[in-house]
Amino acid sequence: MQDYLENCGGSPGRAGHGKALAAARMVYEVRDALATLFNAPSPGRLIFTKNATEAINLLLFGFLNSGDHVIVSSMEHNAVMRPLRELETRGVRLSVAPCDGCGRLDPDTVRRSLRPDTRLILVLHASNITGTLLPIGEIAAVARAAGVRFAVDVAQTAGVCPIDMQAVGIDFLAFTGHKSLGGPQGTGGLALGADVDIRPLMFGGTGSASESEIQPDFLPDKLESGTLNAVGIAGLGAAVADLAQFGVANVLAHDQKLIGLFRDGLREIPGVEVYGPANPREAVGVLSLNIGDLPCEEVGVRLERDFGILTRTGLHCAPAAHRTLGTFGRGAVRFSVSRFSTEADIQSALAAVAQLARSRC
Ligand SMILES: Cc1ncc(COP(=O)(O)O)c(C=O)c1O
Repeated sequence: MQDYLENCGGSPGRAGHGKALAAARMVYEVRDALATLFNAPSPGRLIFTKNATEAINLLLFGFLNSGDHVIVSSMEHNAVMRPLRELETRGVRLSVAPCDGCGRLDPDTVRRSLRPDTRLILVLHASNITGTLLPIGEIAAVARAAGVRFAVDVAQTAGVCPIDMQAVGIDFLAFTGHKSLGGPQGTGGLALGADVDIRPLMFGGTGSASESEIQPDFLPDKLESGTLNAVGIAGLGAAVADLAQFGVANVLAHDQKLIGLFRDGLREIPGVEVYGPANPREAVGVLSLNIGDLPCEEVGVRLERDFGILTRTGLHCAPAAHRTLGTFGRGAVRFSVSRFSTEADIQSALAAVAQLARSRC
């Protein structure tokens, strides 16, 4: 990002001078790297947005019409639920397929929710509260058999799980850059399958076809109006290159091992309630808990103040998921690991939780 700001700074696609061309080349390379990472059909079908929320809005408002029926899981983030609740007021119909108390979704539950007017199934790949992985391969098969489009919110798994859009049969994939991809805030995107088309969320200048006042109909320009966040995209590109060196499959194994150690240790601490599946292989690297009757916000404050451990407390922008887990009333404390976390970090977290739990006895 520093290199881009100091040595380039050009606006991609907005001029013919060297700096603009260099910026356009850089943006194309990052698009290509992300399309390769997710095995999207082509770089042009990888649309940059400022986060996963914008990508999901682009998909939902651009694809759905009044009268269409959508199926989601009961673990979804408000990035999915809020646009859908808005779309319900415009005639879109919604079914929420219930997950179990650990956040797991049985594909048969999705199959049973299908209706003749179903047009889209949209699920997150992993919960942002329990890390629970949803069986996207099996749900894709349900969608395919019913002739319904399938969308996945990979905010929690991009950069953690190998994801092959074409092999799984994902028509829309929404990602954010600032989580496990390791990029900066303000980056994200929507990858489109080979044979899907959607309306733009925004209309405007694209640097292309400037003779026309009508939005271009070719990708990615059709869906990317306005100047891109080139500095953020430069950072995302560097992060994805770094991630490729480490290997995405290694991230999943690393995170699951650490969460397994954390879960094992937490089992030994009286008064701690841990949510999500007991088997760490069923989840990615986030874990939520409560300690006795301590309010989760107080736990979060004490973890930072007394131990220097930063967590996220409350309802995590996911009221539906907390209702599913039975924690809607009180929320929870979420810990997360990354490929930079170590076993020593887990031991520190366990010691901190043990001390807080003891202080309740
Ligand atoms: C599962 C899930 N979906 C969507 C989002 C929204 O991501 P963003 O803030 O990049 O829009 C998040 C962020 O926490 C998330 O965890």
